[in-house]
Amino acid sequence: MRKVPCIITALLLLFAINNLKGQTPKLTLDFNKSNVDVSPKLYGLMTEEINHSYDGGLYAELIRNRIFKDNPNSPDGWSLVLDRGGKGSIDLIGADPLNVPWEQSRNSINDALTTCLKLTVSGGDGRTGLANEGFWGIPVKPNTIYKASFYVKTDTIGAPLVVSIESNDGTITYASSQVVLSKKGWTKYAVQLTTNGDVKPTSSAHFVISTSTVGSYWFNLVSLFPPTYHNRPNGNRTDLMQLMADMKPTFLRFPGGNFLEGDYFGSRFPWKTTLGPLEQRPGHPGCWGYRASDGLGLLEFLEWCEDLKIEPLLAVYAGYSLRGDHVEPGPLLEPYVADALDEIEYVTGPITSKWGAKRAQDGHPAPFKLTDIEIGNEDWFDKSLSYDGRFNQFRTAINQKYPQLRCISTIADFDRGKVVSSKPEMVDEHYYRTAWEMEEDAGHYDRYNRLTSPKVFVGEWATREGAPTTNMNAALGDAAWMTGMERNADIVQRSCYAPLFVNINPKTDHSPRAWQWDSDLIGYNAINSFGSPSYYAQKMFNNYLGNKIVSVIGEYIPTQMRNPNKKEIAAGTLPKAIPALFYVATRDTKRNKIFLKVVNTSGTLQPVTIILNGPIRVTGNGTLVVLKGNGPDDTNSIDNPKNIVPVTTNISGIKKEFIRSFAPYSVNVIELNTY
Ligand code: AHR
Repeated sequence: MRKVPCIITALLLLFAINNLKGQTPKLTLDFNKSNVDVSPKLYGLMTEEINHSYDGGLYAELIRNRIFKDNPNSPDGWSLVLDRGGKGSIDLIGADPLNVPWEQSRNSINDALTTCLKLTVSGGDGRTGLANEGFWGIPVKPNTIYKASFYVKTDTIGAPLVVSIESNDGTITYASSQVVLSKKGWTKYAVQLTTNGDVKPTSSAHFVISTSTVGSYWFNLVSLFPPTYHNRPNGNRTDLMQLMADMKPTFLRFPGGNFLEGDYFGSRFPWKTTLGPLEQRPGHPGCWGYRASDGLGLLEFLEWCEDLKIEPLLAVYAGYSLRGDHVEPGPLLEPYVADALDEIEYVTGPITSKWGAKRAQDGHPAPFKLTDIEIGNEDWFDKSLSYDGRFNQFRTAINQKYPQLRCISTIADFDRGKVVSSKPEMVDEHYYRTAWEMEEDAGHYDRYNRLTSPKVFVGEWATREGAPTTNMNAALGDAAWMTGMERNADIVQRSCYAPLFVNINPKTDHSPRAWQWDSDLIGYNAINSFGSPSYYAQKMFNNYLGNKIVSVIGEYIPTQMRNPNKKEIAAGTLPKAIPALFYVATRDTKRNKIFLKVVNTSGTLQPVTIILNGPIRVTGNGTLVVLKGNGPDDTNSIDNPKNIVPVTTNISGIKKEFIRSFAPYSVNVIELNTY
């Protein structure tokens, strides 16, 4: 039984289950009706800077606060190193002092890098330096080459600086190198740090730059990269890229979510200042309680797509920010529309165009393919009701220049009670719910008005149970929900779960917890990562997907009682019966496969009679993939990352009618071979 607090409900449930005893549930796959296409872009990914998704997450940079702008009052992430009698101090320098006597360069490198950290070494026999704690540690692995770089300005030419990765207890230097300062003014230095083969992986380490030479040293843009996915400079963590690649997604929705909008106009995603060399990226405030470095900027999002061989789904800022700032449609909105057109040109334009040329200059002459573009995010929150006008102004301008682009509205007109004057081709809908709610509404799109309503992009959805990553119960709710999207994959053309990533570091005495949003798909710390049960449920749904929807008729489907939640109790809602089994089937006519997905949300083993009806022939053997938990709360974690993973076995005895039993709390895929 799943969490059912009251006895009456338990009795009702027993009654419901007993009531169906003796009647084996039956699923009839009707191949007379399997001609509706599955959208080839049904399953994708959604991303934004939340939960340290990039800084302290996917973006492989290991130095926290590398340009010292995270906190105007203190050099967060940095500390002074004084060893063996070293003497000195570190100071955050936020402004350019006048009359620097010994050289002309300023404390600001340029308009983007305006803050630096000054190290003063005043004597002593030992070393003095600065240390960076990384994002909850610096990950140290054996036989690994790390690329370190930084800018220094100094009054002490010839001073040697030692660059190292060291254990937090100070006993081990994992890798180290040295540079000798050759100039006074701002100069970039780069070294490689290589660990030995006998190093035990750890994140209990930090990065140090130190010297014993008396003098003053100003630092900026201090960077340390481990090897990255596809060895991209300024690239991504390999383990997280691999987890995504394994899901076989088809697109990436970016840059948000709320991160697109920002809290205010001034903190929206500033795509133009996320381009080019890191020296030109000032970062921006973000909207999830920490600053974004923008090291993972617009081009890096696009290259992320390129690396996964998927399509970008770009969302453009549409004149509304989270705290209610909005721009009225009309002349005031024009600059924002122009900015979106520039952005689209950066993504898709030829190198003869202004922004296509900028992309080429940034290292990517080839344009990216773009089909759909989203106008804003969750504009149903805009109390001014300006979205109708804003959407239309953006769409008109975009379609004038790019008639092939489909503009996605963030408001479903029929759903949210707002009218969009000219119907959008596609609407973005978001669902964050409990497992019960997902299961109860799994038939949501069965009831959708196919004739008059726009196509659907379920641009954010998740069963929110378990934290920081979701548990088995959430995976069951997710899988039930996915059966509904997949069964209607002619109208639900795209979908992506959110949030994708979470850094799972908990609150400590000196730092808040790393995540802002409970119930996320993929968890990690500095050195390890894991997929939640929801991750594996999605991976199964994505990996076993045909190109045609097969109609399935279910009979004698067992039910469970769903208790109302607190809000519903207050509203007088009564317990109700909802299905305990969910199912969907697709057919791959090119690879001669049938994929039947069955979700058993109950705590009982569930035998099911499966009937293949119509013009189809199957071989006697197939494959069964099962994801199951010991109970609804069962889960994966950083210490037990593979507790719940799909297990694949060969099955036999397949014929036009056969019986399979589905484990309690399980998500199942049966793959059949046709001929
Ligand atoms: O996924 C987390 C947030 O939920 C997104 O940023 C926002 O679009 C939604 O409200």
